[in-house]
Amino acid sequence: MTMTSLLDGLDAHAQRLASSTLVNLIANDPARAQEFALRCGPLYANFARQRYDRTALDALFDLAKRADLAGAMQQLLGGETVNGTEGRAALHSALRGGVATSAFALAARAQALSAQLRMRELIDALAASDVTDIVSVGIGGSDLGPRLIVDALARPGARFRVHFISNVDGNAARRVLAGLDPAKTAGVVISKTFGTQETLLNGGIVREWLGNDDRLYAVSTNAQRVADFGIPPERTLPMWDWVGGRYSLWSAVGFPIALALGMDRFEQLLEGAAAMDTHALHAPLHGNIAVWHALTAVWNRNGLHAATQAVLPYDDRLKLLPNYLQQLVMESLGKSVRVDGSDIAADTVPVWWGGAGTDTQHSFFQALHQGTQIVPADFIGVVKADHPHAANHAALLANLLAQTEALANGQDSDDPHRRYPGNRPSTLLLLDALTPQSLGMLIALYEHSVYLQSVVWGINAFDQFGVELGKQVASRLLPALRGESQAHDAVTRALLAVIHG
Ligand code: F6P
Repeated sequence: MTMTSLLDGLDAHAQRLASSTLVNLIANDPARAQEFALRCGPLYANFARQRYDRTALDALFDLAKRADLAGAMQQLLGGETVNGTEGRAALHSALRGGVATSAFALAARAQALSAQLRMRELIDALAASDVTDIVSVGIGGSDLGPRLIVDALARPGARFRVHFISNVDGNAARRVLAGLDPAKTAGVVISKTFGTQETLLNGGIVREWLGNDDRLYAVSTNAQRVADFGIPPERTLPMWDWVGGRYSLWSAVGFPIALALGMDRFEQLLEGAAAMDTHALHAPLHGNIAVWHALTAVWNRNGLHAATQAVLPYDDRLKLLPNYLQQLVMESLGKSVRVDGSDIAADTVPVWWGGAGTDTQHSFFQALHQGTQIVPADFIGVVKADHPHAANHAALLANLLAQTEALANGQDSDDPHRRYPGNRPSTLLLLDALTPQSLGMLIALYEHSVYLQSVVWGINAFDQFGVELGKQVASRLLPALRGESQAHDAVTRALLAVIHG
């Protein structure tokens, strides 16, 4: 049987279950509350409120076997060329542990460790200086991960305050720099390629604003471009083409994280991710959280045909997680062509979106409860609070649990406006506490789930050619904005006329 027909088979299961509700799926099989739940260290996952039964799950695990998800994990962590279109490995796992045994993966691990030593030295030197603030310049994978982790885990009173500039809109640089003293600030320009328009423009602004090149650092694979920009090798940290941009926070791209948290806590983040690597590689399919998460995503997309997926962290410190996951998931899985170049018959990635609870309960949750679209959701909670406001934490957890229950079970009413249809699926991910380890583990779970989804769909999770065309058109438009060319379509010419007044 082909993968396409197996994916089509999910439709048959969804149709078989069309008249079943989550209320009766759970009532008829109460053991699923415990048996559809897994734990890996501080991370607990419960899939009991997904709209599959054990028969549909058997079909999903059959899909996992036929797609050889276990073999795919070995290929990934062994440093095989899983990014075929660019002829590269995707060895982010080598940055954080050492589950791999191939010579290539071991060499990558050695490079990663030597870069970590250099990070520690540079941080120690900066800590011995007058520098109090760090401005990190990067975009996409060279920004979103560090921004998320710093926002989630930096403590008040830390040795350095870390700020981020990503958007090419000059307001981004202006607003960040306005509050800072150039004499007490260091800049880090982060770009895997060192060819990204936004980062080079913003890096140039920071270089000029600092007025002292000694406090400007770089992270890149392209040492020559960094040198041309004016940053010498002793202030440049390496990156490698075996790390994808959106999988790179564990590398020297995480320099701002290490500055904000300290190198020891940065290493704890890596340890948490490494523990998930070990779990994803060695746990049997039925006990493997990454496999369950990936199969659930495939079920919701190809069985239930959900067009979007929400991610709802119930922890204010994780409010940037949806932004981070949008790149990780949608840049990785937003493909309609299989690895062999053929069109994929099934739907691939849905639109990922979300925001932190409880704020979002007062914005878009109305649509989750009563809208016409079914939106599967990942709810993420943290069991132990790190603050003294016990009543707030109890309210937060009560809201988290209440929403998953209300979405699943609904509530009937004679008044159609006050009727809650329920039957809206969710996964609950709970961290014992929010620590570098648990957050590293959570992010690594999403990385592996994304990869496993790509294997089921037969697509390459590690290229992103889709973003290139817009960049090319933008660079052709720059002369047109200066009035030097007309080579665009009629609509763009009309818009240029408006801009030119
Ligand atoms: O958005 C496209 C992209 O290539 C991302 O994949 C990448 O994370 C981002 O641009 C930034 O690229 P770089 O690190 O090379 O500046």
